This record gives sequence, structure tokens and C-alpha cells, in this order.
Amino acid sequence: MEGTNTTVFIGSFAHSTWDEALKICQDMVIGVHKGKIAFIEKKEKLPCLMQEHNLQENWIRHLGEREILIPGFVDCHNHPSQFYNCGVGYDMQLLDWLVKCTFPLEAKFKDNKFAEKAYNAAVSTFVRNGTTTAAYYATIHTDATLVLCDIVDKIGQRAYVGKVCMDQNDAYDYKETTKESLQETERFIKTVQQRKYRLITPIVSPRFAISCSEELMKGLAHIAQKYDLPIQTHINENKKEIDTVKKLFPNKTYAEVYHSMGLLTKKTILGHNIYCPPQDIALIKKQQSGVCHCPNSNTNLRSGMFHAREHLNAGVKLAIGTDISGGCSVSMFNAMRYTTGISNLVSDGTLQTKLVDYKEAFRLATLGGSKVLGLEEQIGNFQVGKEFDALLVDISQEWNQPLETVDHWTEMFSKLFYIGDDRNIKEVFVSGRSIHSKNKPGSTNKFTFDQ
Ligand code: GUN
Ligand code: FE
Repeated sequence: MEGTNTTVFIGSFAHSTWDEALKICQDMVIGVHKGKIAFIEKKEKLPCLMQEHNLQENWIRHLGEREILIPGFVDCHNHPSQFYNCGVGYDMQLLDWLVKCTFPLEAKFKDNKFAEKAYNAAVSTFVRNGTTTAAYYATIHTDATLVLCDIVDKIGQRAYVGKVCMDQNDAYDYKETTKESLQETERFIKTVQQRKYRLITPIVSPRFAISCSEELMKGLAHIAQKYDLPIQTHINENKKEIDTVKKLFPNKTYAEVYHSMGLLTKKTILGHNIYCPPQDIALIKKQQSGVCHCPNSNTNLRSGMFHAREHLNAGVKLAIGTDISGGCSVSMFNAMRYTTGISNLVSDGTLQTKLVDYKEAFRLATLGGSKVLGLEEQIGNFQVGKEFDALLVDISQEWNQPLETVDHWTEMFSKLFYIGDDRNIKEVFVSGRSIHSKNKPGSTNKFTFDQ
């Protein structure tokens, strides 16, 4: 193996498999070559591995006693264009919040300079917080969405990036014509493809049924099919929203509306899905679409309590997301904690069968997310042949104290889950490349539009 492309980590790692939500492996060796995991073995095998792969001492990184590698977080629902609004407007519910708070901010992205500053701030913050892969909603502006792509690429994150589409909006002047929306979506896709970003995939993004005409939804479904691309949208989030959709499409459930437009594919990510009748769960399962639970946002906007276990029991692919800025926290640690918290509340203190515990929430934030994005062969856990998207986490920080009484990794991991944050994340790797390091402040690349 060549040295510049190889790193060998010696220490412990924790990840999820489909059989085991939390698997902690101690005294291991993980070899990373050209961004991919080349081998995973017990530490005793090191001398053999050194010979077999012609490894050099200086490629080896020994993890500290309280350090551990975990897979990078996969945030399946995030609006970086709303980053500046985190913590604002939560005295409103969804539809008022969109019109009074969200659309006025998103409208500002017609200015590329504004977009560059906002997206740099947002993406570097998400990376510092351990999000190695994200599904992003930008705004209706193609050029600003391309600025977001350049920034994500420069910083080195993996992402699905969507130009938001909406041709109906009576309450605020933030929309496109149907024709513009379709043409600009194709321009966006073609430009992204021409630029050959290594880790960015365009995602077709009708905002939701209220803000998109039938013609637009059908046209976008056609574009997604033509380019074989993923789709993301919002569904069954808020009671007033659902009533409005019912008025627009009287004889259909929300999922049936999307299905009739051709928008429910095995590459579709549906945000929220709180109030879903059984036939919607069945239809989503049949279409093999994925659902993204956004618990922090659902709490702030009083949208409601999502039934994660019901989705899992039905075999629906499930992920979790921050939903910035309906959600106010940029951290997937927070999204995982809210997932267990909401599950505890839904269980009503008694129904064990309804629980999603911290191990399951960790799986949703990593492997579950990778599956919803169709990337489960590439990322989501540590497996030979997968890309090395990982966080080097240090749990021996004073704010996680006391650790004195904790002497095994299951408890230490539980502490990390419940009280961890970005201060615990020492280094962030995507495709084997270190894209953020706490030891090198400011290491997260910043993008300048003039470059
Ligand atoms: N539904 C339509 N647009 C949005 C949005 O930006 N955020 C959330 N949470 N729900 C939506
Ligand atoms: Fe959203």
C-alpha cells in the first residue's frame, strides 16, 4: 500500500449492524486505503497485517483510552438556507412559521453573496458537529444552490443537494412559475453533473403538496425518473397542513397524492410523516420510500409526536434529521436524544413495545440514514469495502463527567449518547479524508466565492 493514501487506526470502534443496533469492538485495527476500509481485524493481527500490506509505522494512529471511532452522522433532512433562523419563530406553527419566518429568509438567497456567507457558516457548523452526510433543501434559486454545492464540495462533506421547487404561494412573494421551476431544476441537475463533484448528488425537491401544482409535481417526478435521481419532500407534518391538502385533493390521503403524481419511489425521502393513516404507511412501504423523523422540529413547531416504532415494525426505511431550522439544534446527538425522548413519551410510560432506545436511535442516525439515501453499500457503518466516513470521538471531557465510576464501553457510549456534543468530536473523516480537526482550529475549509 502507498503511504499517502493509507491510515491504520488502532483502538476501539462502535457502530450498528442490521443485527445489532450497538456493537462495540475493542482492541481493533482498521486500515483505510484510498478512502475505503481495507481491513478490520483484531489488534493481535497487527504484525501479520504490517507484513501483508507492507504497512509503515508512521501510518499508524493509536487511539487514546477514552477515544473511539463511530460512523459519521447521516442527517436526512436539513435546510441549510434556514440556518440563520435557528431558535426563532417557535411561537408559531408550521404554516404561519413558513410565511412569516422562513420564506422571507429563503428569499434573500437570490443574492449569491448572502448565500455564500450563510451556507459556509451552516455547512462548516454541521461538519464540526459530526454530520458527514446530509440531505439538503436549499432555496428556489438555482445559482445559490450551486454555491451550496461548491461549498459542500470544498469542505468535503457528502451530500444530496436540492433546489427547492414551489409554484404556489399566495401568502408571500416567494415562488417560481411552473415552467421556471422545471427548467431550473434541469439546469441545476445538468450543472451539478457537469461539475463532477465526487460526493454530491442532486435531489429533486418539491417543497410540499401545498406549494406545488399538480403539473409541477408530475413534471418533477418525470425529471427524477429521467435522471434516476432521489426525491425529497414533506408529508403529514401538521394538522392544518393536512387539512389544506385534503381540501386540494379531497379523495386522497397525503401519500396517495404524492403517489398519484409519481413522487413515491424507492429513492424518495419523506420528511416528518407524523399523522399517517395506516394506508399511508402501507403505501410508503410498498413503494419502498423512506421516512425521515425530525423530532426537534416537531417539538418546536408543536407539529406532534412521531411513532418511530410503528414505522420500524411496518418495515419502512427510517432515518432521522435535524430539520434546521424547524429544528433548532445542528447536532445529530440532539436529534438522536430527541428520538429516544419522543419515543419515551409516545410509549406513555408503559408500552415497552413502542420504545426506540438509544442504541436504535444511534442506528437510525448512521446506518438507517444511509439506507434511506440508498447509500447502505457505501457508508453507515464500518465494513471492509465501505467508505471511511467516521468521527474520532473523545469521551473523557470534563463536561461528560463523572467518568470515574464508568469502566466499560457500553456505559461510556451511553454517556456519549446522552451528554455528548461537538466538543467530544476530535476529528471528522469523509471518504478517508480528515475534513475537520479540533486540534487544528479553523481546519474546516471555508469557501470563498471569489476563489
Ligand atoms: N413544509 C414545507 N416546507 C417546510 C420547511 O421548510 N420546514 C418544515 N419543517 N416543514 C415544511
Ligand atoms: Fe423540513
